[in-house]
Amino acid sequence: MAERKCIYVRGIGSYLPDKILTNSDLEKMVDTSDEWIVTRTGIRERHIAAEGQVTSDLAVEAAKKALADADLGPEDVDIILVATVVPDMPFPSTACFVQQKLGVKSNCPCASVEVGCSGMIYLMELAAGLLERGTCRRVLAIAADKLSAVTDWTDRSTCVLLADGAAALVLTAEESHGRAELLDTFLAADGSGAEFLCMPGGGGRCPATERSVAERQHFLKMNGREVFKRALRDMGGAVEQIFRRNAIGGEDVAYFIPHQANQRIIEAIAERICVPMEKVISTIARTGNTSSASIGIAWDSACREGRFKAGDLIVPVSFGAGLTSAAALLRWIG
Ligand code: COA
Repeated sequence: MAERKCIYVRGIGSYLPDKILTNSDLEKMVDTSDEWIVTRTGIRERHIAAEGQVTSDLAVEAAKKALADADLGPEDVDIILVATVVPDMPFPSTACFVQQKLGVKSNCPCASVEVGCSGMIYLMELAAGLLERGTCRRVLAIAADKLSAVTDWTDRSTCVLLADGAAALVLTAEESHGRAELLDTFLAADGSGAEFLCMPGGGGRCPATERSVAERQHFLKMNGREVFKRALRDMGGAVEQIFRRNAIGGEDVAYFIPHQANQRIIEAIAERICVPMEKVISTIARTGNTSSASIGIAWDSACREGRFKAGDLIVPVSFGAGLTSAAALLRWIG
C-alpha cells in the first residue's frame, strides 16, 4: 500500500460580525435574564450579522484571513468546501457564492456539507481525502453559519444560545508551509436523534406554505435536554476514539477545543475525559454558539493569543445537528 501523505493546515482565519447582542439586549426581547443565561450557558454576548450580510459573506471574510495567514491568494485555491446549515439559499451550493465573491478561478470545484456544528472537523477529513488522492494541492475549507436567520426570536429556550460567525482553513500536503499537521480524525453520526435539532420547514418534507410560516416551521427547533445528554455521550466517545487509536491520554494533549455550545457541556466533557480546564479553550462567553464555525473561531483566537507552542497536541471535538459528532488530533508546528 502507498504511504499516506501528511496533511497540513497552512492557514487559519475567522470572522465575527461587528454587531454585538448582549444578554441585557435579550432581556428586552424575551422573558429571560442575564443571570439565567450566564448560569445555564456561560454566554454573555454574541455577534449577529448585519441585515443583508449572508452566510457566504461571513465565509468570504474568514477565507480572506485564512488565505493571508497561509500567504496565498484566491488564485491559489483548487477546491472550496463549505460547511453550513444556513446556506444562502437551498441551492446552489453556498461554496459557489463564495467562489464568485472571493474571485476564485472558474474551474475550481465547489461543494457544501450540512453536518451541523461538526462542520469544521468533517471538512478537515474530506480535505485530507482530496489531498491524499492528489485531486488538488490546496483546499479552502470554510465553516460558516448565519444562525440568526433561522433563530426564532420569540423562543427564549433557543434564541439566547445562537449566534453568527465563520472560520476557514487552508489545507495542503505541502510540508514546508504547515502551521499544524493533521494526524487523525474521527467522524460519527447518529440519525436516531435527527429530530432533536432541526429546521423542519423549507425542504421536501415541509415546503414553504402560509401554514408552515404560521406554525414557525422555518426556525431552528431543539430538544435542549436530549441534545445536552447526547452531546456529552458523543463528544466523550469521539475523544476516547482519538485517544485509543493514537495510544495517547488526556495528559499528552496540550489543548482541547470543544464545540462552543454551552459552558456546562464544555466543563462536563473536560471532567469526563479527566482534563483540567486550563487545557480547554473556551470562547463561548463572547461568541455564543456559532454552529459549524465555533471550533475554528476558538482555535483561531487561541492561535492569535500565542497559546500554542511547537509540538503541542491539540484535540478539537464537536457535536451537532444530525446528530453528528467528530474529533481530530493535530500537532502544532508554528
Ligand atoms: N430564560 C429563562 N428561563 C428559561 C430560558 C431562558 N432563556 N430558557 C428556558 N427557560 C426555562 C424553561 O422554560 C424551564 O422552565 P420550567 O421549569 O418552568 O419549565 C426552565 O428554564 C428550565 O429549562 P430546561 O430546559 O430544563 O433548562 P436546562 O437547564 O436544560 O438548560 C439549555 C436549557 C438549552 C441551556 C440546555 O438544555 C442546553 O444547553 N442544551 C444543549 C443545547 C445545545 O448545546 N444546542 C446546540 C447543539 S449544537
